[in-house]
Amino acid sequence: MKVKRRLDYTPPPFTISSVELNIKLHPTHTRVESTLTVSRQGVHNEPLWLDGEGLNLVSVKVDDSDITAQVQVSETGMSVPCTQDTFKLHIVNHISPSTNKALEGLYQAGNAYCTQCEAEGFRRITYFTDRPDVLAVYTVTLSAPEEGYPFLLANGNKVNERTENGERIATWHDPFPKPSYLFAIVAGDFDVVEDNYVTASGRDVKLAVYVDKGYASRATFALQALQRAMRWDEENYGREYDLDVYMIVAVDFFNMGAMENKGLNVFNSKYILADNATATDKDFFNVEAVVAHEYFHNWTGNRVTCRDWFQLSLKEGLTVFRDQQFSADMSSPLSTRLSQINIMREHQFAEDASAMSHPIRPDEVIEMNNFYTVTVYDKGAEVIRMLHAILGKERFRQGMDTYFERHDGKAVTCDDFVDAMQSATTTDLSHFRRWYSQSGTPVLSVGKVVNSESGEVTISLSQHTKPTAGQPDKHPLTLPLRIACYTSTGKVLALSKASEGIKVLSDDLIMFESECAELTFNSHDINPPTEPVVFTALGDFSAPVKVEQSFSVSERSIVAMADPDPFNRWDALQSLYNEGVLRCQAGESANLNDLFSVVKEVITLHSHDAHLLAELLSVPSVESLIQQQDDVDPIKLSQARAEFCRCLAISLNAELTAMLQAPSASTYAYEQEQVGERKLRHALLMLLSYLPDTNAFIEKLYQVSDNMTDTLTALNAAQRCNSQTFIALMHDFEQKWHGDSLVLDKWFGLHATQPSRDILSTLTLLKQHPKFADDNPNRVRALIGSFAFYNTEGFHAKDGSGYKYVTDYLMELDKVNPQVAARIVTPLIQWQKFDQAHQQLMKTQLSRLLNEPGLSKDLFEKVSKSLA
Ligand code: PHE
Ligand code: ZN
Repeated sequence: MKVKRRLDYTPPPFTISSVELNIKLHPTHTRVESTLTVSRQGVHNEPLWLDGEGLNLVSVKVDDSDITAQVQVSETGMSVPCTQDTFKLHIVNHISPSTNKALEGLYQAGNAYCTQCEAEGFRRITYFTDRPDVLAVYTVTLSAPEEGYPFLLANGNKVNERTENGERIATWHDPFPKPSYLFAIVAGDFDVVEDNYVTASGRDVKLAVYVDKGYASRATFALQALQRAMRWDEENYGREYDLDVYMIVAVDFFNMGAMENKGLNVFNSKYILADNATATDKDFFNVEAVVAHEYFHNWTGNRVTCRDWFQLSLKEGLTVFRDQQFSADMSSPLSTRLSQINIMREHQFAEDASAMSHPIRPDEVIEMNNFYTVTVYDKGAEVIRMLHAILGKERFRQGMDTYFERHDGKAVTCDDFVDAMQSATTTDLSHFRRWYSQSGTPVLSVGKVVNSESGEVTISLSQHTKPTAGQPDKHPLTLPLRIACYTSTGKVLALSKASEGIKVLSDDLIMFESECAELTFNSHDINPPTEPVVFTALGDFSAPVKVEQSFSVSERSIVAMADPDPFNRWDALQSLYNEGVLRCQAGESANLNDLFSVVKEVITLHSHDAHLLAELLSVPSVESLIQQQDDVDPIKLSQARAEFCRCLAISLNAELTAMLQAPSASTYAYEQEQVGERKLRHALLMLLSYLPDTNAFIEKLYQVSDNMTDTLTALNAAQRCNSQTFIALMHDFEQKWHGDSLVLDKWFGLHATQPSRDILSTLTLLKQHPKFADDNPNRVRALIGSFAFYNTEGFHAKDGSGYKYVTDYLMELDKVNPQVAARIVTPLIQWQKFDQAHQQLMKTQLSRLLNEPGLSKDLFEKVSKSLA
């Protein structure tokens, strides 16, 4: 299959400055009429190539002369002979939205029509130069039967709307030139929630959220989140919205989270609909974050877009960073940061350790849809965060202003972005750029020597990145390190010397750029041998690396109690838990008391802060523990983790039980104090559920809960604690919520993750559930995705039955929706971390997939790479 390479980029031989579309909607025969203004770029005689897939061509005209017989049409597009330098091209084609189950291009979501064009979906609507560096002004006319389609939406501003002979007809004009991936239309009948927003400069913008009939009350939170995001982007980046209307449409059928189409976002309903009865605290958080993310794209993505798809992180890494800053401002900064760090450690490190490892700016792609990854998005955001740390808040903002000034209305590269940042600082960023080209997770090793005579503390730093797929030789990267050196009583040691390879940016921030280097701290009035000194290198997780540092239990206790940085305090406990799991794995579960007494001390110290306590009491997930080891037996690891949690619960039973409280009498609200309380209750029950007598509390909690957060806490705890209770509560839950697809997805997910011996028969039964549907990505992810990603003992079953089950399913799913199939295959291609026996079983299934006739590009790319 065809590989595309970043370095092969050439500018487009033709550009298209304006597009007029006339789309007559029909389930199987939608007629698309397109008039393009085309200009040749430079001097050449090449024909015009237009991308097009799955289209039925009717006719082609150049400036009024019919050339339908002269064009060459293939499976991937058409070649148009042309001699003029500027001309109008008129194309008519048909498409069939009702049979489009891949959900790319124009498709039906329930009774509505909608589109998804990123990355290369526009070519499934009509013939076009479907690449992000061709920017055009669009005018779109839609028509559909009046009955059933009162709303006809497209990008930009509405310029005309009327009814003629039972047909509804609407015309929209978007004045901002945009790439085809930002095109969108929607047609259907909805409930609309509307409001307005007055921008900083006083312009009035109409806001509208379109949802399925009957769901209006679940859309108000999203609308308010949008208003907060608009204000935030003005206050923090000086960015205003630019059209007269901003529309969001929520649909139940969507491959991803949401899409930032200009002025007309289309969302997975999961990230719009939320009310007090059906949404968890996490759901509210995600709705606000995704609404903001798509809104922020209006500047970082739409006004300034990507030259080619290899530059995807230009818009995604940057926009994720911006939405993280926003979420931290709107909710708990610490929880926001820690959940991001967990994504890095559980999923991004896993990707880096697999054959799909790629730099945040990939060099080679077969199927672009495979590169909407945790690396491009989340590691991409960490790279922006490092720039933010290096430049500091003010200069980072200056760099952003320069970026917008220079590139508004253009399609640019990651290098252009770093150039803009460079203009705002005297710190040399040329070495920093390696983060864009080098893949893999660097390991930072830290050593410490205390010289009792001189009173000096010497810290040695070294960095190393293991070879990854296609990149055998690795180089040192620029690591911004937020450092601290202090004693058990909290006396801070001053940095007195830094060797070559280190740039000192401030008292607590250095840039480490070489393979190894040294730092020296002066202890002056402190006597290190009697007062232990600790050094921490990665405050706020200041670089996306793994740290290797030999810390004794008592040193980790000092960090957990006294480090100036909350991430470090949390991480010290995480590493103690990790050690505890390792001991359990080695059969030493009787020898954990030293760890437990540290935990007790730390939670006593922080007993006033529910948010922090909840985080401190969260034992690392199996997924993140896997990334700490090699040659993993996942079943043993999962059992060791369970054993560790059980011992921890026994040892801290009194303390945990004392903190465990039933929900307070106040009714549910998504506000931070309550969120902290519920989060703590969740963390406590996740431990106490290992003890059988917690069952009564769990049942009680389920009964009294007035909100989805506590209800799910009860169900999660029951899943661990008592299978009878779990079955009974799940039954009750289904009775109550069977009519609500988003809530039912939670129910499917809980079933799929239960630690049951006949999980595969459960899955088979659930696949026959009347509400399960192979063509609905949310449902498929809830059931099969949850199983593959999070049911360690079921998926990794020793006989390979879990792998086979998922593989069989993917073979079918690939024929319906390859994009979703390729996402769910992820845990299967990440075999590198496991022991030989599991690796073999995983590869056997991957080979079956690879031999499947008609395999999609999506699965082919991932599976073939993983077996190479
Ligand atoms: N660009 C979308 C976002 O990150 C994600 C997306 C990609 C959605 C491809 C659909 C298809 O906001
Ligand atoms: Zn995005």
